[in-house]
Amino acid sequence: MASEQKVKILKNTELVPGVGKLVVSCDDSPLPGQFYMLRAWEREPLLSRPISVGRADQGELSFYYLVKGKGTRLLQALKEEESLLLFGPLGKGFPKEEGSVALVGGGIGIAPLIELSHRLPAAPDVYVGFLDTPYALEAFRAQTLAVATDSGRVGHKGFVTELLKPESFDAVYACGPTPMLSALKKLCEGKTRLYVSLEAHMACGVGACLGCAVPSGDSYVRVCKDGPVFLAEEVEL
Ligand SMILES: Cc1cc2nc3c(=O)[nH]c(=O)nc-3n(C[C@H](O)[C@H](O)[C@H](O)COP(=O)(O)OP(=O)(O)OC[C@H]3O[C@@H](n4cnc5c(N)ncnc54)[C@H](O)[C@@H]3O)c2cc1C
Ligand code: FES
Repeated sequence: MASEQKVKILKNTELVPGVGKLVVSCDDSPLPGQFYMLRAWEREPLLSRPISVGRADQGELSFYYLVKGKGTRLLQALKEEESLLLFGPLGKGFPKEEGSVALVGGGIGIAPLIELSHRLPAAPDVYVGFLDTPYALEAFRAQTLAVATDSGRVGHKGFVTELLKPESFDAVYACGPTPMLSALKKLCEGKTRLYVSLEAHMACGVGACLGCAVPSGDSYVRVCKDGPVFLAEEVEL
């Protein structure tokens, strides 16, 4: 059940320029794929910021963040012992699937897949793509770990989707930029079940404002309440 709580910052470290890992003290047991609304400021910006659970373990929650604008810059500035307001856990997590599973993450989209990799019955095959410098690879529990970078600096030079053979898996779980999710949807069609975790601008985070609605067939779904995880065929990508 979602609640608001003030938590203490245990660590806030830069992983690569512009990407950080924030660890807070919290006993919650969120499901992989759920997220929290984070707030480390009083009035400005008006809205709290949705960030996925990166890891929930032994009384600690970890969040991975990419610095984009004012909210994430304020998260980056947080110091040990300072506090943060959390509202959550929110949304539905990744559904459980039997059989062989692949996780596909692009950039900061790897975050919710880290916790998922630790909660699956068996270590999954993990495919991750980055622009140039990978991060947080050691945080995964993986049977195999395949890395792609656009620049070719590490691993396969090109898109992570070029490495995946969807017919080898009973299910694929993915999170990352929309072009990556669109490419995956085409790749997986008719071959395996694909679950995608979506991002949208959010205000309330609990399904009340419709600010995060995305098209689904001839209707809409709310990313915060009905998702953020959807079967790929349920949403437009
Ligand atoms: C369910 C969910 C889980 C998320 N998990 C993570 C996570 O684990 N780590 C992480 O770094 N980010 C995550 N995000 C995205 C994160 O919420 C936004 O990047 C953040 O709110 C930007 O806030 P800001 O104040 O720094 O930037 P703003 O000043 O609000 O925006 C800066 C730029 O980012 C764009 N932007 C803002 N919000 C989003 C968004 N939701 N999707 C795409 N572009 C956006 C804006 O259009 C603008 O161009 C998640 C989003 C959702 C909906
Ligand atoms: S953010 Fe308000 S309905 Fe999703």
